[in-house]
Amino acid sequence: MDVLKTKIAVVLIVFVTVISACYNDNVEDLYGDNECDTSSVTYGINIEQIISRRCARCHSGNNPSAGIEIYDFQTTVDYVNQNRGKFMGSILWDGTASNMPKNDSKLSNCKINLIQSWINQGMKP
Ligand code: HEC
Repeated sequence: MDVLKTKIAVVLIVFVTVISACYNDNVEDLYGDNECDTSSVTYGINIEQIISRRCARCHSGNNPSAGIEIYDFQTTVDYVNQNRGKFMGSILWDGTASNMPKNDSKLSNCKINLIQSWINQGMKP
């Protein structure tokens, strides 16, 4: 009987360890990127946080990088209207433009898909 209890305890410990290891994923993987609903994308709900967290610190202020302003709805729309290919090339890292965000990791596929869908759907606020 004690042997059986020990075996059950060992199995439980292994099980709990494996389960908790699965929770080591980062927050973006757990909550952001698994929900990649691109059916109705708006700047306010889907895009603002990407631009403000990943682009605005360089592309705003008195001396924006490369003279390019991309930090809010209007500046992003204006830039995309004039340079759509460059904008997408820069976040796709496809070799047609400098890779953006500069000196940072590539945007996740979900974020790139959201941006592409937002543009395709007419850049809704
Ligand atoms: C750390 C600063 C920094 C961040 C963050 C950053 N950029 Fe840039 N960006 C630059 C610099 C500097 C240039 C000028 C080209 C170069 O040096 O590579 C540039 C150039 C660009 C260009 C023109 C590329 C070309 O080939 O002409 C685009 C488009 C662009 N950025 C978009 C973005 C977008 C979109 C984001 C956010 C996803 C972003 N950038 C984040 C610094 C940054």
